[in-house]
Amino acid sequence: MLQLKTAGFKALDNLRKKELFPPQWQNMEELEQVSDSVLSQFLDERFRVSQELGGGFLISALIDKALRTRDNELMDDRNLPVSEKLKLVRALDRQNAMMQLYPRYVDLLIPFIREISETKKREVRVLELASGAGGLTLALAEAVRQKKLHASVTGSDIVPAYIEAGNTRAAELGVPASFRYLDAFDLTSAGKGAFDLVVISQSLHHFTPGQLAVMIALASENAATAFVGIDGYRSLLLACGVPFVAAMQGIASFTLDGLTSARKFYTELELDMIAEIASGKKVQRVSCSWPLSVMTVRF
Ligand SMILES: C[S@@+](CC[C@H](N)C(=O)[O-])C[C@H]1O[C@@H](n2cnc3c(N)ncnc32)[C@H](O)[C@@H]1O
Repeated sequence: MLQLKTAGFKALDNLRKKELFPPQWQNMEELEQVSDSVLSQFLDERFRVSQELGGGFLISALIDKALRTRDNELMDDRNLPVSEKLKLVRALDRQNAMMQLYPRYVDLLIPFIREISETKKREVRVLELASGAGGLTLALAEAVRQKKLHASVTGSDIVPAYIEAGNTRAAELGVPASFRYLDAFDLTSAGKGAFDLVVISQSLHHFTPGQLAVMIALASENAATAFVGIDGYRSLLLACGVPFVAAMQGIASFTLDGLTSARKFYTELELDMIAEIASGKKVQRVSCSWPLSVMTVRF
């Protein structure tokens, strides 16, 4: 219901006809600014189209408008003590494990690793951005080992405590993964061409459209092959379901973060537009693998 596809495609068509989409940009500052601006124009246009269509289209648009929020999750609060941040990312890690999401992510990513390995005939270097507690990096590294693939998996985040905890966990589990500090908006320390595949999970909605576009554009300078973003599918079911499942852990702040996140999930069309602005081409694919949206941008 919250994908608003009919109104969305009409709105995007209108923006294309007015030559407002895709916008041009010269540098990362401009990319961030034009992406935020165009996505905001798109939402306004989509609401206008929904009003024209009326009936159920307008009801869906009104529900979507009521749910949307720019609030940040508590885990992103700079003033939150590190111990509380760790509590929240570990709760998310448990939830991901409980929902059997890690095997799903691994199944989605292994074909990329195999493909790159066959093309490049060398080690495939995978980078996970915003890896939090590190569950995906660890699960992927374990799968790589079990399947005897020639690949290395690096998790990264901007919270040093997560990096330390990730490396400790990798050593305890004997999993061939490593974690390092890396800001998704400054990959210079990684070095150009340092990675073949850049992935990010459960975090796309933590960033504005402009930030996501910059992240994709920067990844294209660093990942020779592809950027894969996995996140919750924007829907009424998840707007109720995510906080409900989060509440099972009995952590009030985590439940609230679950609700905030589900209100912020992007629609498939929004992700598609952001990727097109960032890449300047139609090299992206956004699909639903319920309850996930999967965005793939090939470079
Ligand atoms: C919702 S958590 C997702 C964690 C993990 N991917 C998972 O699914 O459990 C969002 C993560 O984004 C990280 N983050 C926020 N801003 C970042 C940035 N500029 N660069 C890298 N990571 C960032 C946060 O520290 C946090 O760990």
